[in-house]
Amino acid sequence: MKDICVIGVGYVGLVTAAGFSDLGNRVTALDINEERVNNLRKGILPIYEPGLEEVVRRNVLAGRLSFTTSYAEGLEKADFAFIAVGTPEGVDGEADLRYVRDAAEAIAKAMVRPLVVVNKSTVPVGTGDWVAEIIRSHLAKPLVFSVVSCPEFLREGCALSDFHNPARTVLGSMDREAADKVAQLHLPLRAPIVITDLRTAEMIKYASNAFLATKISFINEIANICEALGADVKEVASGMGYDPRIGRQFLEAGIGYGGSCFPKDVKALAHMASVQGRNPQLLQAVMDINDDRTRMLVEHAESLLGKIEKKEIGLLGLAFKSNTDDIREAPAQKVAALLQERGAIVRAYDPVAMDNAARTIPGIRMCPDPYALAEGADALVVVTDWNEFKQLDLPKVRNLMRTPNLIDGRNIYEPEEMKALGFRYRGIGRGYNGAKPAPQPAGKGRAK
Ligand code: UDX
Repeated sequence: MKDICVIGVGYVGLVTAAGFSDLGNRVTALDINEERVNNLRKGILPIYEPGLEEVVRRNVLAGRLSFTTSYAEGLEKADFAFIAVGTPEGVDGEADLRYVRDAAEAIAKAMVRPLVVVNKSTVPVGTGDWVAEIIRSHLAKPLVFSVVSCPEFLREGCALSDFHNPARTVLGSMDREAADKVAQLHLPLRAPIVITDLRTAEMIKYASNAFLATKISFINEIANICEALGADVKEVASGMGYDPRIGRQFLEAGIGYGGSCFPKDVKALAHMASVQGRNPQLLQAVMDINDDRTRMLVEHAESLLGKIEKKEIGLLGLAFKSNTDDIREAPAQKVAALLQERGAIVRAYDPVAMDNAARTIPGIRMCPDPYALAEGADALVVVTDWNEFKQLDLPKVRNLMRTPNLIDGRNIYEPEEMKALGFRYRGIGRGYNGAKPAPQPAGKGRAK
């Protein structure tokens, strides 16, 4: 059992703290936000993450997990200090590292014993060396420490299961002994452990997220082509996915990626490349394709509704994906703004993200349930792929609507079924206008 201090109690930090305490370590989770720490001491979590409340409660009761705002308290007996603070997008896409810097300085001033500092936050390549320099120059007394990069690969909405079942643990350090100590912490997870140098570990994180984002923009471009040629992108993705070199995951065409990671990480990697004079052509295309998805969705709405001025349009979902209340970089924000720019009256329903959205997406009427959302609406737009929406009483929804137009930004429904139910339906890449005509094969039938 080791003594661990986790600095930053957000999506990554709280899951990391809860996870390591559940493995039997003694964990002190530290945040400078006093209200957040006081709430956690009362069992009130700052985030919605399935199963997390129970794990936190169990480990607090067992005395393995506690919360503090004090670095002196958090580091008093710590063998490890995990930096899990936010690295938000800064100017022209560069990661803003002020919170990492503040944490590194505070660690240096408060540490009283040898320490392994573990960078869990997603940080630009080379940050590990920078953190070591900050600590070295702020040490209150000469103490031994090492810095290890240990990027997180948690997905929101299934972060706890990702913590306990990682595809791999990546560790990077110039001090192999320190990396081995962090590897020991992860042994109970029984996952492959990659040990490399600091910069390579940091790059593995960015390259992994950028590749996943590339897969999404790839299938979204294929969806655009399917729409023109009358093919069904869902079946295309399914047919592709049997090839183990391609894989089935992250080939769901739709409204595009959002969240606090893909948008900022792809931008940050492109920025790192540009600063080094390397033109990030593919990454730029990935971002351009993604940026275009919400405009495409609004155009689908216009193709069904004609003018959308003064039309009542309901958004089914606000969170950037299902099973989370996170609306950071959520496509819903852009969809709402584009619809409002065109004079539509926008309403919305989300199972858990409405409070967060009300604070950041202005002018939307929040509805208590999907049926209230449908009542009198001229169109509904599926923005988040909540399971709840797949189980709706669709005939009831149709009868409640003023006109049964439905634009499915996540392809959670089937075009033929929706048409049979009386909806005017548009999916993404489900063939030309959702039907499946056999347009002239390209190149044939041209005038001689
Ligand atoms: C991602 C990475 O998956 C995770 O490994 C990393 O640690 C953090 O960033 P997250 O952003 O929580 O996790 O969610 P993820 O499930 O990856 O989805 C990201 C976005 O892509 C969401 O907006 C989701 O709706 C979208 N997405 C995902 C698609 O549009 N199509 C897909 O096939 C998969």
